[in-house]
Amino acid sequence: MDLTAALKVGILGLGTVGTGVAKILLDTEGRHPLLKEIEIVQVGVRSQKPRNISLPTHLYTTDLPSIVTNPDIDIIIEVIGGLEPARTLILQAIDSGKHVITANKAVISRYGEEIYEAANAKGVYVMTEAAVGGGIPIITPLKQALSVNRIQAVMGIINGTTNYILTRMQTEGGDFEPILADAQALGYAEADPTADVDGLDAADKIAILAALAFGGRIDREKIYCEGIRNVSAADITYAENLGFVIKLLAIAKLPNEDNAGRIQARVHPTLVPIDHPLANVNGVNNAVLVEGDPIGQVMFYGPGAGEGPTASAVVSDLLSIAATLANGQTLNPLLACSHSHRLDIVPNNEVVTRLYVRLLVKDTPGVIGKLGTCFGNHSVSLESIVQIGIQNGLVELVVVTHEVQEGAFQKALAEIRQFPEVQDIPSLLHVL
Ligand code: HSE
Repeated sequence: MDLTAALKVGILGLGTVGTGVAKILLDTEGRHPLLKEIEIVQVGVRSQKPRNISLPTHLYTTDLPSIVTNPDIDIIIEVIGGLEPARTLILQAIDSGKHVITANKAVISRYGEEIYEAANAKGVYVMTEAAVGGGIPIITPLKQALSVNRIQAVMGIINGTTNYILTRMQTEGGDFEPILADAQALGYAEADPTADVDGLDAADKIAILAALAFGGRIDREKIYCEGIRNVSAADITYAENLGFVIKLLAIAKLPNEDNAGRIQARVHPTLVPIDHPLANVNGVNNAVLVEGDPIGQVMFYGPGAGEGPTASAVVSDLLSIAATLANGQTLNPLLACSHSHRLDIVPNNEVVTRLYVRLLVKDTPGVIGKLGTCFGNHSVSLESIVQIGIQNGLVELVVVTHEVQEGAFQKALAEIRQFPEVQDIPSLLHVL
């Protein structure tokens, strides 16, 4: 490609992220000089309306398929979000020989196989830095600098909405529902918060990170996913007393035990020890911790969403493609997706993890011994049993296990549920 001529870009979507991208490309002073070679030639919008950016009106079109098939365009930036028409437009762009940059974690985590096979067949790049962690560079490091390591784990706080809610629950001692309502009123949570609070957004993102970290395709639907709706103010307080904070973690790791090349991949509220690097990631911030051999632990921290940060990630992909094309490379393996085998995910009942369970039991002699014996019969080793309080003849107990097989723990809990002394088991949470 001759970069004396401008590299021509079409942007699908001029919402928050699309606007941020256009702002960077219209104001390149003090940024990487290659950005001056990039020209926006078309912008796809749903409707014509006044906007917070001044682009020549002839660039706008509501005909999005005309952008992805426009022979004058080299690179498509897809920032409309949602599954369709985004997926179809990405595939049409690839079919027309265009490189694609997308922030769309839902499409990439579900249709990555179809999209990357099409891209590899056409010799074009599909770049996703903005899909995970907003402005935090994590995709490029996993593809490049960190890829000389054998990765053992990638885990993090990769949903800002839930981290904001949990942080407020922690600092204010409040319950989930009123804080969610307030977060919605303040614009920190969507009117429909499902994707965020039920962990789906984080599961999309960990699927993308795991595929890169462990070099294989991930079946998104097999990722265990539990959101934060059932996290209570009481559990946050009890966890704090035991030296933990509760965070929504997305975790992908090699199991400690031999699991025949499988990985663990899951999203759930997790008790994180207060001295752990992820414990102090608060508010809307994201962080991703990568463990590899020989690097050890590295953590990436920063703004997980927003116009500027996400646009920074999108334009970094644009710069990578521009630099590769300027260099005359036809296919840079550090930008392309090279893996094609499938990575199996360890089923939940085989996962080995620490667990926290809170029980309400009748205050009768021997009840703690009975619980301990039942857990022991199922090879569930306990780290602690703490009696939190007593009211109306009922004792509140919190049990924290050592690393145990989750299936064995569930069997023990099913038996314990039947004990006449056990009134309720209000919460069960994972412990890092
Ligand atoms: N909804 C996401 C979050 C931001 O709350 O982190 C976009 O990925």
